[in-house]
Amino acid sequence: MNFENLIYEVDDQLAIITINRPKKLNALNKETIQELHDAFAEADADEDIGVIILTGSGEKAFVAGADISEFANFEEEEGALLARKGQKILFDFIENLSTPVIAAINGFALGGGLELAMAAHIRIASHNARMGLPETSLGLIPGYGGTQRLPQLVGKGRAFEMIMTAGMIDADRAFQSGLVNHVTSQEELMALAEKIAGKILNNSGVAIATAIQAVNAGFKPGVNGYDAEIEGFGASFATEDFKEGTTAFLEKRKPEFPGN
Ligand code: COA
Repeated sequence: MNFENLIYEVDDQLAIITINRPKKLNALNKETIQELHDAFAEADADEDIGVIILTGSGEKAFVAGADISEFANFEEEEGALLARKGQKILFDFIENLSTPVIAAINGFALGGGLELAMAAHIRIASHNARMGLPETSLGLIPGYGGTQRLPQLVGKGRAFEMIMTAGMIDADRAFQSGLVNHVTSQEELMALAEKIAGKILNNSGVAIATAIQAVNAGFKPGVNGYDAEIEGFGASFATEDFKEGTTAFLEKRKPEFPGN
């Protein structure tokens, strides 16, 4: 698949998606959002892919936000449509994929950029990363899930402070707040993402997909996460991966999960 604003690479069981508009600090314009949807859909549909890593090109930015030049003249309805469509085709889409997504935050992750990283299942950052939701400084609020996912990750008080001050936090502060899981040098960032991916790839992809659904269920209004867990737990017993995992344990060998 050819992309204008992305680099899509496959390395064995790993898909690496790099947002590639470095001159605009990888800001998310309409085309990039659609291409990201297509790239994630392709990776998720590929049975050989077990983990997706998302990063930004260049040394300065992961993503410096939604492309401000695209919506500067919008009116109310266009604004709502922008947020609704974006949430559906990209942000909610990523969160609910069967394949785990690691965001490797290599610089600025602002506005839609931080919201994109927060839609991923795991976040790691390089020391130079700066994260924030600057929307209120533009007379807006976050529109790609930021008002919901940031409090889930860092707590309501810290989220309010970030949203109200529109300020940026550095990678260490993000680590202390639980916004990112690890901080490393920029040179080591992709190697760390791949190391985490390698550990995930040792495990059952079917079980991981079910775990993603169960965890997400607890954050959906009107859905009982414990019930979703019971259902997913039960369903696991019908999989070949379960048979292989338990058999391998009893035979004292490493499992080779068939992936179904
Ligand atoms: N939308 C559109 N273009 C953006 C952008 C965005 N969110 N963020 C950066 N760019 C563009 C700049 O306009 C500039 O383009 P130009 O060279 O054609 O003028 C280019 O990327 C480089 O950015 P610049 O501002 O010159 O870099 P900097 O190092 O001085 O500042 C930031 C870096 C991230 C602090 C600054 O770019 C910024 O504040 N960006 C907007 C962040 C934001 O508010 N995001 C939320 C949007 S809802």
